[in-house]
Amino acid sequence: MSLFRRKDVAALQAELETDHSLKRTLGAGGLVMLGIGAIIGAGIFVLTGQAAATYAGPAIIYSFLLAGLACAFAGLCYAEFAAMIPIAGSAYTYGYATMGEFVAWIIGWDLILEYLFAASTVAVGWSGYFTSLMRDMGINLPAAYTSAPYTHAVVEGAGLNVWRLFTEGWTRNPDAVLNVPAMVIVGLISTLLIIGIQESSRFNNIIVVVKVAVVLAFIAFGAAYINRENWEPFIPPMTEPGHFGWSGIVRAAGVIFFAYIGFDAVSTAAQETKNPKRDMPIGILGSLVICTILYIAVSLVLTGIVPYTELNVPDPIAVGIDAAGPGLAWLRPFIKIGAIAGLSSVILVMLMGQPRIFYTMAKDGLLPPVFSAVHPKFKTPWLATIMTGAVAMLCAGLLPIGLLGELVSIGTLLAFAIVCGGVLVLRYTDPDIPRPFRTPLVPLVPLLGAGFCIYLMSALPIDTWARLVVWMAIGIAIYFFYGRKHSKLSA
Ligand code: ALA
Repeated sequence: MSLFRRKDVAALQAELETDHSLKRTLGAGGLVMLGIGAIIGAGIFVLTGQAAATYAGPAIIYSFLLAGLACAFAGLCYAEFAAMIPIAGSAYTYGYATMGEFVAWIIGWDLILEYLFAASTVAVGWSGYFTSLMRDMGINLPAAYTSAPYTHAVVEGAGLNVWRLFTEGWTRNPDAVLNVPAMVIVGLISTLLIIGIQESSRFNNIIVVVKVAVVLAFIAFGAAYINRENWEPFIPPMTEPGHFGWSGIVRAAGVIFFAYIGFDAVSTAAQETKNPKRDMPIGILGSLVICTILYIAVSLVLTGIVPYTELNVPDPIAVGIDAAGPGLAWLRPFIKIGAIAGLSSVILVMLMGQPRIFYTMAKDGLLPPVFSAVHPKFKTPWLATIMTGAVAMLCAGLLPIGLLGELVSIGTLLAFAIVCGGVLVLRYTDPDIPRPFRTPLVPLVPLLGAGFCIYLMSALPIDTWARLVVWMAIGIAIYFFYGRKHSKLSA
């Protein structure tokens, strides 16, 4: 039964009153900035073009609407929890209060897939844009040190054979040694995070302004170059299942779901927020709405300037600028600088969220105490930040972007689905706890949120599922060998 022992919400709220180890410096505006900082990144700057070219065509805007809707439902559920239990652990803590310790551990372990691996994924995208900007400036970085030494292809016919799915399909790229820029950016940002959240938040605000300005410039200046013929047909007819037509729109929604990941990172800063009850829902939902509008506008302009068939490139926005002709050439370097800035802030928020989840898990005894060590001067969870940074650096240096990105998607979708379920469970088990923000239309919204997430998960390939299962198996083993015995609730 100890698997289902729960933290009660009143105890969590009391714990919050006494724990002053993290500084409260963020307001609603800072949280919206944090959210946008986490959301706009590799999804729009790298993945949109490929999704439009191969799956949805101009109808990619419907994919953005679909994925945005899924996130909105999940966001409404997150907001209820974040306002009610404003503790650094995010979804992990919500799970602990609703479905018990074991589910909480599962979520916490699963969130590593989201935060740590997303930081690595986006760092690989960062490296791509950085290398390309350097090339535009006449500096050619050696290819051997700007790409991953391993690539991975889907293993055909392995079925559910986890061993084959894991060990086969790898190719050693003889010309590549290590993705050095991806590692360097992770290292730099980790250092910044150790120095302090106040400084990091200032850095984040500047970057968010730059990247939103670049996105707005693309929309405003690009709109004049739209050629309506590029939107014909707006929904290209299906060529095979998953390619164009409705099924293509859904598959593309699964791919660009990555673009929305990050709004939930706002909740990891709850303990550093001045007035979490009011500011958390504003931060989560505000950043989500702003990004959805920007994404739809960008994809309309992009598919209006360039025929969608030409968008299967690593830098679709830059290609859009080129296609507009010499009139927009001046915008090209700004777009690249904006993308680099944008990707940096995503890495920042992800690398900030992960150690704070570790911090909370270690305070609960589920992880060893080193993870909750707070730096005496900087007041940040510095050892957890160093460990997170080191692992994220290794993954970014060695692994291909596709494999990392899919793991992030499946892990995040699972976490979102559990959070939606948690809102529902707690409404029935503890209907009377004060809820400063209430998810509307319960049970409809949580059910739709969980349903959408599971639907999108089902569209992901079998080898990604296999990795999720193995990752979870490792996590469960750690829980039974360590967490269950050391849990503060076991005393
Ligand atoms: N949403 C983030 C991105 O697009 C993870 O890079």
